[in-house]
Amino acid sequence: MEVNNIMQFLEDRTILVTGGTGFLAKVMVEKILRVQPNVRKLYLLIRACDLEEAIKRFQMEVAGKDLFRILREKHGANIDTFLSEKVTPVAGDIANENLGLRDYNLIKEMQREVDVVVNAAATTKFYERYDLALNINTFGAKHVSNFVLKCINMKVFLHISTAYVSSENHGLILEKQFKSGDSINGKTKVDINKEKQLMEENLNQLTTIKATNKEIASFMKDLGIQRAKHHGWPNTYVFTKAMGEMLLGELRKDVPLVILRPSMVTSTYKEPFPGWIENLRTFDTVFAGYIKGTATCLRGDPDCIMDIVPVDMVVNAMIVAMAAHVNHPNSGIIYHGTSSASNPVKLHQIVDWSVEYFTKHPYINKDGSIKPRDFKLLTSDRSFQKYIAIHYKVPLKALKIANMLVCQALDGLYTDFSRKLQIGTLFSDLFKHYSLSKAIYDDSNLKNLLNIYKENADDEAQVFFFNTSSINWKDYYMNTHLPGLVKYAIK
Ligand SMILES: NC(=O)c1ccc[n+]([C@@H]2O[C@H](COP(=O)([O-])OP(=O)(O)OC[C@H]3O[C@@H](n4cnc5c(N)ncnc54)[C@H](OP(=O)(O)O)[C@@H]3O)[C@@H](O)[C@H]2O)c1
Repeated sequence: MEVNNIMQFLEDRTILVTGGTGFLAKVMVEKILRVQPNVRKLYLLIRACDLEEAIKRFQMEVAGKDLFRILREKHGANIDTFLSEKVTPVAGDIANENLGLRDYNLIKEMQREVDVVVNAAATTKFYERYDLALNINTFGAKHVSNFVLKCINMKVFLHISTAYVSSENHGLILEKQFKSGDSINGKTKVDINKEKQLMEENLNQLTTIKATNKEIASFMKDLGIQRAKHHGWPNTYVFTKAMGEMLLGELRKDVPLVILRPSMVTSTYKEPFPGWIENLRTFDTVFAGYIKGTATCLRGDPDCIMDIVPVDMVVNAMIVAMAAHVNHPNSGIIYHGTSSASNPVKLHQIVDWSVEYFTKHPYINKDGSIKPRDFKLLTSDRSFQKYIAIHYKVPLKALKIANMLVCQALDGLYTDFSRKLQIGTLFSDLFKHYSLSKAIYDDSNLKNLLNIYKENADDEAQVFFFNTSSINWKDYYMNTHLPGLVKYAIK
């Protein structure tokens, strides 16, 4: 593996990025434009009904974000000219063949010019409708790879997956490729076409009986969880992402494919400035409830290993991995963009730091500051149920079937009590997998790659830094991530 001059790799490149309005994609776009203004062009695929809407979304949801502040300062009055020269938003949808592009000339232009493709489009909801998740995370990956095959100058195709496709929650999780048909439970065999057929049959039946949109959505969400669990995955998101990887595994071997699997991505560590984040994700959702005074407890193991990684490091790993695989045949290599092997952080530490931070800096909403309530990490199902029973004056018997994790669900999301119990149970299941995990994600492949890069080009490797072992997590949480969360993500 050779990797020594990433600036040169980026120079004069034409890169297609899907998921253009997403968190990871916009941090990557900003980074490339900031460090290598001589990149030739970035096509940003944005879900939109036409070009006008795609441009508008780019301006509002990408370039208009605070994330682009440093770039705007750098280019001053020329920023709009610079962005319009370098970025071409295109309206598309990866759930369709040809990425939903409708303009024949544009398709031909892109297939002639694009030499790097980054697939960062996905639906990241754990409890997504099965039809949507299959069409985007599974068949979307296939549609992007079909497009890659038609690009005549293709140099490298980077697909972003997630570390949690490997859903064991203990032991060392290797950077290992899926084989077609693999399941987590090792008992069932995943047949992706059968999954699609099953989803379509259910959808047709629902249409035949004239189910309402709400009923269809609810059924499809439950079907996703049911199918994921049938094969051993904890939720629809990771199951459909795993199937996406399986389809990519069937790609021709001469296609230079590389897959990066980040864990839980958090706010920027230092670039373009510390603490930038977009929207609440995974455990931050629970802590946002705590900050706002609605969530009071979490069912979890204090020693659960939380694998978190700042987004600017993930983006640097994406760029280094792309550069390293230019023109290499698909070797099936997987990179974990993770931290737990070299610098694990535990759930009780994150809870303690959050409580400490918000006791010192109470969250201020428009009605004034909110004094954080007590936040409890409840270590057994029994203590959890007892706590809920007392706190919410619910009979313990009723809770035995609920086993809720996020009390926030009880605090006003749903008015109907039985629905509350149902949703509470679901949250419990969806999060429990992660809040009880003892898995460590092996990141040897990425470490080796970065070591080679550092040996070859130490100065440049500072620009594309990725070193989770050097992070002081407490300092990062207290001084960067939590203030960033309040400023940018908690509305
Ligand atoms: N963030 C994390 O913690 C994390 C962790 C591990 C892995 N990942 C992976 O990293 C990638 C990027 O995640 P993210 O956090 O940036 O997600 P995100 O913020 O939710 O963005 C997802 C992007 O995908 C787009 N998208 C969804 N469906 C699409 C479709 N059918 N066609 C075209 N675009 C579509 C969304 O567009 P709209 O704006 O129109 O919805 C959005 O731009 C994903 O593959 C995710 O699985 C993320």
